Amino acid sequence: MGLGYSLLVRPMLALMDSEKAHTRALLGLRAVSFTVFGRMLLRVLYRPRQLESKCLEMDFRNPLGLAAGMDKKAEVMHGWETLGFGFMEIGGVTEHEQVGNPKPRMFRSAKHEALINRMGFNNSGSEKMALRLSKAKKPGVPLFLNVGKSKITSLEDAHLDYAKTVELCANYVDGIVINVSSPNTPNLRDLQKDEDLARIIESVQVHSGNKPVLVKIAPDLDDMQIKSVVDTARGLGCAGVVATNTTVERPDESSVMLETGGLSGKPLRNRSTQVIRLIADHTNGEWPIIGVGGISTAEDAWEKIINGASLIQIYSSLVFQGASVIKAIVNGLDKRLKAAGLDSLEQAIGLARRE
Ligand SMILES: Cc1cc2nc3c(=O)[nH]c(=O)nc-3n(C[C@H](O)[C@H](O)[C@H](O)COP(=O)(O)O)c2cc1C
Repeated sequence: MGLGYSLLVRPMLALMDSEKAHTRALLGLRAVSFTVFGRMLLRVLYRPRQLESKCLEMDFRNPLGLAAGMDKKAEVMHGWETLGFGFMEIGGVTEHEQVGNPKPRMFRSAKHEALINRMGFNNSGSEKMALRLSKAKKPGVPLFLNVGKSKITSLEDAHLDYAKTVELCANYVDGIVINVSSPNTPNLRDLQKDEDLARIIESVQVHSGNKPVLVKIAPDLDDMQIKSVVDTARGLGCAGVVATNTTVERPDESSVMLETGGLSGKPLRNRSTQVIRLIADHTNGEWPIIGVGGISTAEDAWEKIINGASLIQIYSSLVFQGASVIKAIVNGLDKRLKAAGLDSLEQAIGLARRE
């Protein structure tokens, strides 16, 4: 079906509007993973090997997770688990339901294997998310919730918006990711500044029930700003960082690249790895980093891990390569580990820093 996907589904999706294709792919996965037979088929076709690790005081069957934004409403959680992801991040969710930016707002560049999106946190709001999670069977792999700020909430009241979502939803998830790094909500990234970030973290911690709280960081900050976000978050007891969100930088001026929004996929890969390395060096490898940005092969994943990431996530490569990318990355990582003569993933984390 990896081949089937390449031959049939991908070319079909390429003809469709990006957001429609995304919605249909999710509906398809939900339908297939709804039945026992469908789940069995997905497992046979896509499940990668076990590549166990421990992080954030949780057990992971493999280090590859689904990045935020793919399953904003937590509609396909068992589908992602069946496909073989080691964990998933649902959302972004905001306190208030919102429609997001006008369409079209998601664009593909096949040439760059990149996406540009300016979705603007379209989501059904924290109340509906909490209701959905309360009724759903929790997946058997760690579940993180990505939390953003509603557009109608002022920057001064941002902490209350984040806190409300966490208050309603924390019970149903294993960890919280504070997203102050999306480029698509006006001035959201200003909240990465020390006092604002501190206020948000402290308000979220009141309701997080001792579940790990992480901060997701933008790749467009300079080194000083990145260190400052890290110091603030770590100083307040955050469990780690997700590096990185999408970038407003562009690789060139081709037509798709002129669209405003956040760029993800291959052109983000090196910058994201640089940010991971900077954080790992700054924290002496003692603070968990979830590495995300432009991973499309096992080698990309390996690069992120040896530069300091304990876990990794993908979004764009799933769009371009289909579900077979999960197995290719996890099995490839396992091989890479053995080729390096290592017994466990933990030994590979930050290896390039120690050489
Ligand atoms: C359409 C789209 C929507 C996204 N929505 C969110 C979001 O709600 N919250 C968030 O923190 N990141 C969001 N992201 C960013 C991804 O989680 C990830 O950080 C980024 O795409 C880089 O990974 P990739 O290169 O593997 O795609 C979104 C990305 C895309 C393409």
